[in-house]
Amino acid sequence: MDIRENLSRIGEELEKELHDLDALQALENLKVRVLGKKGSLTALLRGMGQLSPEERPKAGQLINEAREKMTRLLEDKQKELAEREKEARLKKEAIDVTEPRDLPLIGCVHPMNLVLNQVLDCFTSMGFDVAEGPEVELDHYNFELLNIPKNHPARDAQDTFYIDDNTVLRTHTSPVQARTMLSRKPPIRIVCPGRVFRADEVDATHSPVFHQIEGLVIDKDVTMGDLKGTLDAFAKRLYGPDIEVRFRPSFFPFTEPSAEVDLTCFNCHGKGCRVCKGTGWIEVLGCGMVNPKVLSMCGIDPDVYSGFAFGIGLERITMLRYGIQDMRLLYEGDLRFLRQFR
Ligand code: DAH
Repeated sequence: MDIRENLSRIGEELEKELHDLDALQALENLKVRVLGKKGSLTALLRGMGQLSPEERPKAGQLINEAREKMTRLLEDKQKELAEREKEARLKKEAIDVTEPRDLPLIGCVHPMNLVLNQVLDCFTSMGFDVAEGPEVELDHYNFELLNIPKNHPARDAQDTFYIDDNTVLRTHTSPVQARTMLSRKPPIRIVCPGRVFRADEVDATHSPVFHQIEGLVIDKDVTMGDLKGTLDAFAKRLYGPDIEVRFRPSFFPFTEPSAEVDLTCFNCHGKGCRVCKGTGWIEVLGCGMVNPKVLSMCGIDPDVYSGFAFGIGLERITMLRYGIQDMRLLYEGDLRFLRQFR
């Protein structure tokens, strides 16, 4: 009987083909050619009909054994090929997470905002509210109610950006004082940060657009001592306990008496240098007791109430805080500068 021969021939051929095989699809084709409906082993099974009844069981057993063995071989090969293809795919699709690439820029808070946040924290912790006012302002609030007469130099067209005869870009945040007094009843405690505008040159200490933080306190029995204490607390909060605060008599139409406040120079700590022009001090704000005339104009009885006000230059105190010597750095958006405040 040539069944054995046929089986071993089919078996050998299968093993040989399996050996050379390197793709899953080819393996599938081979499986169909041997075990499929028209496959060579299936043909042997069909051929059993021609065998004698005595020969049949033995032949059936042999064919089934061969079938099992071949099925096992095919399965093993299939596992091996699947594994290999998976590995190849993983290799191809691998992502190198260490490969350098452009990362999205992570921003940081601008130094002026860092300082502004500190200032607002400081004053809100002393009971102040934060107020706001318009940047395009009526002459009435920007000048008139602040006792700045028609012929005052601050009104000079060289300093003020006029929108029309009655409207300006606010030259300071002080108009918010007038707006607040007209809209609220004392006691009043507000700070108002904001942008202000002056027809100025651009240089290391000047810009046509800059920032102020206005402060206003109105209550019964408010004194110059309260003003000094408040500003002293502010200076120490921002610059530490060693900072010195100096009040210099000055003049503003909306305060009487008025003062300008200097802090020890960040650069020379009071010895005198180029930054402080040899004085050892840097001016950071104007302040004073609110002029009774202003109180009256804004509907507050100066016989009952008194108050103080101040206007801080935000750029100044930021430069002082970080030792920045040129104001333009604050506006240029140069990342090399800004990144230092991360
Ligand atoms: N408005 C003044 C300026 O821009 C600054 C100032 C001085 C504000 C004295 C005040 C003050 O509230 O009391 O120069």
